[in-house]
Amino acid sequence: MTLHRALPTDSFGLAVTAASDAAASALDHTIAGYWEFAPDTGDRLKAALTADPEMPMGHVLKGYFYMLMANGALYSRLPKLLRQAGTLCDKAGTPRERAHAAALDAWVAGDFPNATRIWEDILVDHPRDVLALRLHHGLAFYMGRPDRMLAQIDRVMPAFGEEETAYGQILGMRAFALEEAGRFKEAERAGRRAVARNPRDAWAVHAVAHVLEMEDRSREGVEWVMSLENEWDRVNNFRYHLWWHRMLFHWELGEHDAVLDLYDNRLWDPESEEYLDLCNDAAILLRLELRGIEVGQERWRAVAEKTKPHLEDNLLAFVDAHYAVARSAVGDLEGAEHLARRMETLGETRGQSWNADLMAEIGAPLARAIADHRAGRAGEAVDKLLAIRPRLYEIGGSHAQRDLFDLVLIDAAMQAERWPLTRALLWQRQAARPRNAWTHDAAAIIEAKLG
Ligand SMILES: [Fe+2]
Repeated sequence: MTLHRALPTDSFGLAVTAASDAAASALDHTIAGYWEFAPDTGDRLKAALTADPEMPMGHVLKGYFYMLMANGALYSRLPKLLRQAGTLCDKAGTPRERAHAAALDAWVAGDFPNATRIWEDILVDHPRDVLALRLHHGLAFYMGRPDRMLAQIDRVMPAFGEEETAYGQILGMRAFALEEAGRFKEAERAGRRAVARNPRDAWAVHAVAHVLEMEDRSREGVEWVMSLENEWDRVNNFRYHLWWHRMLFHWELGEHDAVLDLYDNRLWDPESEEYLDLCNDAAILLRLELRGIEVGQERWRAVAEKTKPHLEDNLLAFVDAHYAVARSAVGDLEGAEHLARRMETLGETRGQSWNADLMAEIGAPLARAIADHRAGRAGEAVDKLLAIRPRLYEIGGSHAQRDLFDLVLIDAAMQAERWPLTRALLWQRQAARPRNAWTHDAAAIIEAKLG
């Protein structure tokens, strides 16, 4: 008779296939690190896989991390990793672990709808699977679906007790989903509650910053982010995104010297090639230029240089669009066109998928529009952006991040002297953000033109 030892469980009570309790707890520690933006999350994963080199979820988690990095070099290692994770899960994994391997498979294949569906299914049976929850939150975000982010959180939240640390973290996630869904008041309440529980919860701090951004409460925004800086500045590269939010507030206040100073001393990390950092960098430099501020080719060249190895990553249209911003800014219009062509034909190289379709239909014209705008082909930029505008949300990212493309559209419409269109776009913008300074300035130009 074979005696089966009960599987170890993680801190949320989920069974984990692992050689020892220590290995399961190392995996748990890694997932917590991911959730909390811990700078040593990679080391935690290494420790987990050292404790049990055949732990199925260790390999799945490694694949998830590679996907989260949205980096072509890591992406190229995924087929091998998928085979390993799949074999280990099939051999010894629980149904939950096998479902995670399937979700990773779908994500790698560009089938974002299926990956998110699988996590939703996992969460029906295992509502305390915080890994599935956090991944769902992230990928639904890159599908432009805050409704799904919110629905998923609401479907599991009662499974957590208010006294649990995780409850506060989920509250912070809920705050961000509410904010992206346009429910600002509820978002702010939830976010502030989460931060009161744990001021180090960078995601909750971030959610409130987004509310302040969307409501153009810029001075309050600077104060909010600064007041908690000692807490969030300890997290991994995500801290740069919080600096970016502070810079956005300064930009809206017209404090351009402060933006440039923060850019040089806080935002810019010469060592980093993380996609979010490059997006932050390119987005703030372009915003400054759209305000007529000279940012200098040196800063652009440094960002563009970092995008060079990633022109064939093509993992997220949102990211490729920012790379196109940087390439165009240094006059490399061919680089932007290369990105567009790659996105257009992604299905041929990686197989047709939801993401390949999105890249071709939205990402490619967006990259070309950005290049057109930079090259002075304003009318062409307007036409391309207008054509994709109703679906632009599908590339994901936040409203605040995607706003850059609306700013480019309005700027291009002005350059092309398409005044009635510019007025219509500004009216729409004023309705959504009546206190927005950039809109106010642009509207003054239009009033002078149209009387
Ligand atoms: Fe953000």
